[in-house]
Amino acid sequence: MRAIAVLFAALALALGGCGSGDEDEGSDGKGEVAPTPAERGPTQNGGAASPEEAFPPLAALPETPPVPRDNPITPAKVELGKLLFFDKRLSGDTEIGCVSCHDPAKGWGDEQGISTGYPGTRHWRNSQTVVNTAYLAKLFWAGESTSLESQAASAITGNLAGNGDPVMIEERLAQIPQYVALFQEAYGCERPTFNYVLRAIATFERALVTSSNTPFDRYMRGDPSALPEQAVRGKTLFEGKARCIRCHNGALLSDERFHALDVPENSFFEEDHLGQISLRFQHYSRGVPEEVYRGAHTDLGLYYTTKREMDKGAFRTPPLRYTRFTFPYMHNGVFETLDEVVDFYDKGGGMSPNKSPLLVPLDLTGAEKADLLAFLDSLSPPEPLIVQDPEPEKGMPYVPVER
Ligand code: HEC
Ligand code: HEC
Repeated sequence: MRAIAVLFAALALALGGCGSGDEDEGSDGKGEVAPTPAERGPTQNGGAASPEEAFPPLAALPETPPVPRDNPITPAKVELGKLLFFDKRLSGDTEIGCVSCHDPAKGWGDEQGISTGYPGTRHWRNSQTVVNTAYLAKLFWAGESTSLESQAASAITGNLAGNGDPVMIEERLAQIPQYVALFQEAYGCERPTFNYVLRAIATFERALVTSSNTPFDRYMRGDPSALPEQAVRGKTLFEGKARCIRCHNGALLSDERFHALDVPENSFFEEDHLGQISLRFQHYSRGVPEEVYRGAHTDLGLYYTTKREMDKGAFRTPPLRYTRFTFPYMHNGVFETLDEVVDFYDKGGGMSPNKSPLLVPLDLTGAEKADLLAFLDSLSPPEPLIVQDPEPEKGMPYVPVER
């Protein structure tokens, strides 16, 4: 059997293809990949960190993120991925690209509570920053994807985002000579394939969309002068009285587990018909029972994956890096400022029975809140990370293919 498989692979190469590029996990182009129970970890209701349980200490971020063995970083892939990230021809109607919802000038998000959607739709969640996502093992607000490659597939094909068809996109790229040459250089393939599109975008994100040199990182690497005193006091609160470290821990300031905070509803879903359509569409397409779907009024988070009552409203703890630039906050963008976020935690979070028992009223003073905010600020670089738009549509036009 193995010999036959090898023969087929050799044949595919001899025929001038470059393999489907989908022989590994995570770049299979099938869209969202649900985390396995082991990867997912328990929810707060399923027995996560009790107050006494040890959690990873805060740490500096390693300068390079993990890189999958089958997709090493090369300059050609980074260049290709950058062009693709900015190219709107990767969507159904060629009007929307990654950059439309992940604008470097807007924290690599879009500064809206609920994200822009594919033309004619509205999204149903807040657009997350792309910065440092290369370090995450679980992507999206409820951890529905487990690699940047599979995440990119969801983004390009998802009805509320790119709404693109992989075959159509391959045909388009095949008509752009510069892309054909770049795919050849990066992956040694004769024609651009969808799977290499995903890998190139992921490589760009791993190589250029990271930020590991914040004041906090310099402090943790041994420079005591990198943090102002107020931020140092805020760090002590973060690790102590304010209890944030119970979920926001390690180098990413995320346990990558799922917790329900019961953040306030975003009134957008009461008022906007496109938002209501998207919310119901998402419920339906995630296979929830009809009575839940018909009465859809809020994002149920991890529940869509597990269908367990206790997981309703649980979301992946987001990293707190780069948050200076990523307002508004939370899965539904309900808080405009970090002050509002801290006030929410100070009150002990929301009221739902599913709310994490790790949230309790904190009784912070005004000065303590200010200290905490100074610490949060130290988790972002002073200046935003900007990558110039290479404007691929202008510089790389279609050219009819010769027969
Ligand atoms: C129409 C707007 C839109 C477009 C287009 C879009 N995204 Fe997103 N992106 C979002 C939203 C909204 C989320 C959160 C979705 C969720 O949790 O279900 C997200 C999440 C992500 C995440 C996960 C971040 C995290 O912390 O887990 C990454 C990475 C990402 N997008 C990259 C991309 C790339 C690459 C493209 C282009 C191939 C793209 N996005 C296109 C809106 C968009
Ligand atoms: C029980 C675990 C838990 C604790 C404790 C906790 N958080 Fe969170 N944090 C989360 C989760 C989960 C979310 C996302 C919730 C959502 O979108 O509904 C979040 C979201 C945030 C966000 C928004 C990030 C973004 O990108 O939108 C900030 C800021 C934040 N937390 C800061 C803090 C601070 C400061 C503390 C301590 C006062 C704290 N958190 C305590 C789990 C926790």
